[in-house]
Amino acid sequence: MNITKIIKKDIMQSALHANIPKKYLYNIKISLKSKMAHYQINGMMNIAKILNHDIKNLSNKIIFFIKKNTIYQDIQYSHPGFINIFLKQEWLSEKLEDIIYSQNMGLLKEKKKNIVIDYSSPNMAKEMHVGHLRSTILGDVMARVLEILGHNVIRVNHIGDWGAQFGMLIAFLKKKYKQYNNINISLKNLEKFYQESKKLYDENPEFQKKSNQCLLLLQQNYKKYIKIWKTIIKITIKENNKIYKLLNVQLNDKHIIGESFYIKFLPEMILELKKKNIAHEKNGKIIIYLNNIQNKHGKPMGVIIQNKNTTFLYATIDLACLRYRINTLLANRIIYYTDIRQRQHFNQILLIGKQAGYITENSTLEHHAFGMVLTKENKPFKTRNGKLIKLNTLIQKAIKKSKIIIKQKKPHLRKNKVSYLSQIIGISAIKYADLSKNREKNYIFDWDCMLSFQGNTALYIQYTYTRIQSIIKKSRFSPLKIYTTIILTTEVETNLAIKILQFTDIIKHIKKYGTPHVLCSYLFQLASLFSIFYEKYSIIHAKTIAIQKSRIKISFLVAKTIKLGLKILGIKTVNCI
Ligand code: ARG
Repeated sequence: MNITKIIKKDIMQSALHANIPKKYLYNIKISLKSKMAHYQINGMMNIAKILNHDIKNLSNKIIFFIKKNTIYQDIQYSHPGFINIFLKQEWLSEKLEDIIYSQNMGLLKEKKKNIVIDYSSPNMAKEMHVGHLRSTILGDVMARVLEILGHNVIRVNHIGDWGAQFGMLIAFLKKKYKQYNNINISLKNLEKFYQESKKLYDENPEFQKKSNQCLLLLQQNYKKYIKIWKTIIKITIKENNKIYKLLNVQLNDKHIIGESFYIKFLPEMILELKKKNIAHEKNGKIIIYLNNIQNKHGKPMGVIIQNKNTTFLYATIDLACLRYRINTLLANRIIYYTDIRQRQHFNQILLIGKQAGYITENSTLEHHAFGMVLTKENKPFKTRNGKLIKLNTLIQKAIKKSKIIIKQKKPHLRKNKVSYLSQIIGISAIKYADLSKNREKNYIFDWDCMLSFQGNTALYIQYTYTRIQSIIKKSRFSPLKIYTTIILTTEVETNLAIKILQFTDIIKHIKKYGTPHVLCSYLFQLASLFSIFYEKYSIIHAKTIAIQKSRIKISFLVAKTIKLGLKILGIKTVNCI
């Protein structure tokens, strides 16, 4: 059930009846946000201008045809060129009744597509830092949204497990440990060694030579080095998995297809690209020229896919990866979550993918870019010594801060309950704060805001949820066993009903644009509307039993929507806060 879809269909039909040519109907837009009506139709002004018609007259013609439909209470023309729509309360309550038992608030399954979501994708031998939070949770929400709509979602953790750094690291570990093929170290130390090896590489020509040798042997599958390489990856993944679990992110070993996986496809791909006359050899390098982008000399921009020393580049691997995802995984849609600095990279992959014929009309490539995490002072979120803050540090801090808040609010709670709640609340605060911001913009990390009970925060939404639970409990009714119907006796209830029914619209929007903040704003509006309702009207002590029961049902539906909304955001709900 999708109200905007129903209205849109009715409006389109009426517009055709009113002799508006089909080709102009794209102008018609439905706004969910009007203060003047339940829904508002925009765009009539454009059509009237094109047709050189009086706008009021034209709108009234449409209204005349649409009015016949039974779902509308009233439809009015509104100056200077809107059509305001009011829905019938009986129809709204009927629709609410329909979703009270439905698992997904009436969301229907779509025609199944294979959708690859490339997210989190950290580099190995390093701890995940604050920047990885965004990719990890944005991608995870998108996976949940698409799955709930019935798609075949292929989650991929495209880990950075290949490249020159492994040569350095192996050379370093060899130097440091005699028993280098059986090392047992923490990820923290591994990262430290990684940094030290890099420094050594830049300063010491001998070490550089050794590293290059190690890299060569690793690439030639030298067993001993493969073993160290695997250990490095294992250590990293083990730590990352702990974070995914803590964050309630659905990534595990099964979803890893790292860069190294594609190396075996590179020679054949390059050969194929050369044969197709897309890749060209120049000064020992292999280059692809982009048809549609010019460099500063006004010539087609070149993208190097193989260097003189035959090493491959980030773009080369992504190209092979694209080819694999389309040809083997049969992906119809591939979505990448990385920060905005990789925009040009993915744009190039897209263009080459089209030139090479990998991307046809059956598949799309989308880069869902996101901005940086900044401090309140608009600076990169770093520690005092200039390093990016570790994701684990951040999570532990959020849990700690939540513990203090919970202890203050509920001083008598048992210790293990406090621990349980603070983990969920801390994680939900971090995740929600990030997800509630438009991903394209930079995001200011602010502990006070994210742990506030006021505003568009996890705590406010969680609090509303628990409040409804306690109202229902107090009422002694079991909402699923109330057999009388919902009656919308006040304007606030009607608005709540409409809001609840808009849930499906919101999910569809995210499916298209990958913007979870729309769901957060929606949940915030829903929760705020409920607060108004709760403060203004009595639920348990309503005048009649019928109204009491109806209000319990409405409250139940609000809670149900919040629970599902948060679940899609990968956030667990709590029963008390
Ligand atoms: N490992 C990369 C990084 O940390 C992100 C990889 C994104 N996915 C891809 N297919 N390139 O920046």
